[in-house]
Amino acid sequence: MKNCTCKSTKPAFPELEPVLKKYAKQKGSLITILQKTQDIYGYLPEAAMLHIAARTGVASAKIYGVATFYTQFRLKPVGKYIVMLCAGTACHVNGAAEIEEAISGHLSVANGETTADEIFTLNVVACLGCCSLAPVMMIKGPEGEETFGNLTKDSAVKILGEIALREEVAS
Ligand code: FES
Repeated sequence: MKNCTCKSTKPAFPELEPVLKKYAKQKGSLITILQKTQDIYGYLPEAAMLHIAARTGVASAKIYGVATFYTQFRLKPVGKYIVMLCAGTACHVNGAAEIEEAISGHLSVANGETTADEIFTLNVVACLGCCSLAPVMMIKGPEGEETFGNLTKDSAVKILGEIALREEVAS
């Protein structure tokens, strides 16, 4: 990454200002800053990481290293809805792989990818903590998170179809 060269006195990332004001000078708060940045933008834009480097004094290479080391961080934009399909043990033995195949086929994306219309991002994740409902997916959207359990290939595809329809009607 190149170093930030912005000279403007106006904050380059106004949404980040409250976070930087609170944490920029606090030692050991880089992960917190990156988490909050991702909460705001849905991912970690490169320009935002450079801005964080300039404001915190942490080398941009270190920030990039942390962002790429932890799987919780995303470096690419994501869809409006993040589909987190559990592949933990209980979900795996109850058919999570088949459900992933059905969702991938329905959305035409692989794990980690975003649909062309930027509505869905598919993320296959570790245990979501509700194994009694296996197989499970959680969908994180503008209205919050919703968990769907006892999935089948058909029910998973149907849930995504209903969301897509809602989006189509709203647009
Ligand atoms: S293994 Fe899927 S919720 Fe625990």
